[in-house]
Amino acid sequence: MTIPFVTPPQVAWASGIFSAGSLRCKSTTVADLADVFADADAWQKEAHERVVYNVEMLESPYGEGELYVGATHLSAGLIGDEFFMTRGHFHQRREQGEVYFGLCGEGLLLLQSEQGEAWLETVQSGSVHIIPAFTAHRLINTGQNVLSALAVWPSVAGHDYHSLAQGFALRVFSAAGGIEVREVRVD
Ligand code: PA5
Ligand code: NI
Repeated sequence: MTIPFVTPPQVAWASGIFSAGSLRCKSTTVADLADVFADADAWQKEAHERVVYNVEMLESPYGEGELYVGATHLSAGLIGDEFFMTRGHFHQRREQGEVYFGLCGEGLLLLQSEQGEAWLETVQSGSVHIIPAFTAHRLINTGQNVLSALAVWPSVAGHDYHSLAQGFALRVFSAAGGIEVREVRVD
């Protein structure tokens, strides 16, 4: 009996581009990110159709114990002085964690607990980020090139974009060619 070898999907580690798998793709534009950036006037002036990030994920089964794999490609750019970033979310199923792997570019992963404690991890090729349960997460591109990261998460985790109505406790800006992290005052 000949047992056939199955060719799995492939990802190019240098770019996060998938091949040989069936993909679901989603683009997020400036228009989709109203109220995400600190400078509303700068957001208004930016071309609304400009793509801030693309997510490509492999089609895979949904259900308890199943995993999704996807790559986020976050463009380099600024809204005002604030670096391009993803919307960020908690998981709907808060107890579900996630792992991010930095592939290319330079950036930060902003993490925040339910109690509002926030911290930043540096993202670059080869970085591994274990996002704990009960922790919101957002990618920020602080570099000059696309920041790409691969993510693996439980299919049942879901995305909760609303519980951070007050936003994250930290924002990251470009300042004199460097990076400035500001704490957000919540009145
Ligand atoms: O599962 C994840 O955390 C990622 O794939 C994100 O969904 C992706 O980076 C896009 O970010 P957001 O869902 O916050 O728009
Ligand atoms: Ni997530």
